Amino acid sequence: MAVFLSHSPEETRAWAEQYAGTLSAGDVVLLEGEMGAGKTVVAQGIARGLGVKEDVLSPTYAYVNSYGPMFHFDCYRIENERQAMELGLYDYFDAGKICLVEWSENIRGLLPDGCKVVTVKKVSETAREIVT
Ligand SMILES: Nc1ncnc2c1ncn2[C@@H]1O[C@H](COP(=O)(O)OP(=O)(O)O)[C@@H](O)[C@H]1O
Ligand SMILES: [Mg+2]
Repeated sequence: MAVFLSHSPEETRAWAEQYAGTLSAGDVVLLEGEMGAGKTVVAQGIARGLGVKEDVLSPTYAYVNSYGPMFHFDCYRIENERQAMELGLYDYFDAGKICLVEWSENIRGLLPDGCKVVTVKKVSETAREIVT
């Protein structure tokens, strides 16, 4: 287990940019943490590390956004695994891209084995503990 203490959103992005270098095609990374912890900020940094030029925004209303080598999921509004199946979310995990998943607890039964986990904990208004 590794712990990093970030003092700003940019520091979190910079950490995540480095973390992206440890990922391989097909990896599924669960981004854990409460609302507003910084999961999407981590996704932005990972995207930067993967060379994605587009802005990574929260996909809350789309469930999943596609950015070149990665998919970014936000399963907050998914109510059950049946709904996730109907949305076809399962197929994304087999596409050989890096999958970043927020609120993965809502699709637990669909997740492949061997997921990586990044947990972001709010320590103060501007400080975050990032655990891998
Ligand atoms: N050190 C930090 N790392 C990441 N985000 C931070 C940090 N300090 C403050 N923030 C703020 O916390 C919020 C995190 O939002 P977001 O990434 O959308 O959260 P989540 O996706 O976990 O709901 C942003 O408004 C961001 O500016
Ligand atoms: Mg988010």
